[in-house]
Amino acid sequence: MKPSPSGTGVTATDPMVAYYRRRAAYYERVYHKPERQPDLREMEAWTTRTFSGRRVLELACGTGWWTPHGARHAEHWLATDLNPETMAVARHKALPACVGFATVDAYTLQGVEQALAFDAAFAGCWWSHVPLQRLQAWLELLHARLPPGARVVFLDNSFVQTSNLPITRRDADGNTYQMRSLDDGSVHEVLKNFPAPAEVQAAAGPRATDFTWTAWTHYWAAAWTLT
Ligand SMILES: C[S@@+](CC[C@H](N)C(=O)[O-])C[C@H]1O[C@@H](n2cnc3c(N)ncnc32)[C@H](O)[C@@H]1O
Repeated sequence: MKPSPSGTGVTATDPMVAYYRRRAAYYERVYHKPERQPDLREMEAWTTRTFSGRRVLELACGTGWWTPHGARHAEHWLATDLNPETMAVARHKALPACVGFATVDAYTLQGVEQALAFDAAFAGCWWSHVPLQRLQAWLELLHARLPPGARVVFLDNSFVQTSNLPITRRDADGNTYQMRSLDDGSVHEVLKNFPAPAEVQAAAGPRATDFTWTAWTHYWAAAWTLT
């Protein structure tokens, strides 16, 4: 995969991409954990409200857990991921007619047609995997694709998630890591950050207004409007 002038992409052999490809068939087990169900029902309704009437670019959609909920009343929804394997699960779901798919590297946005006019961007459980040293450039790239008035929305795991998967390492840039096992017995070190609201707001940068932070027990969501 060629890097774009505005962002450096990753390849299909990137450890994070490979990890999620191998996990695709049973990734959604995390969404069947009994203790998460009350949060999930609230969040599904929240995403439906948040994107009503919007033209949404979803990054790192994975198996599309959020896609049917977010897209329910959206005008248009492009679900993207770098892994065709995770998107294959999403494509088999009953989805609103406004949903399309594309294989896109979230770090470059190559493959997202310039002509498509989005007025919202969304990613679930992606922010936590972006290395801190990449956050600024990646958000600037994303914001540059969006007009004034666009909504930018991320949701992700709260620190409660570390009770099952403790942090095992912190690197020189401040990124934290977990060791995760897959069903095939392989063990993977996965970068997973747990930002404070102020960190997310600071990273959102000067174009971000109306910043909101919503905390559930197992998840958080941050949203802002671009000037
Ligand atoms: C934690 S999963 C999130 C899936 C889904 N959004 C959710 O909330 O359930 C992370 C996703 O990021 C995808 N991914 C990893 N690197 C990527 C990249 N550079 N560009 C786009 N997607 C990527 C993986 O394939 C995986 O589906």
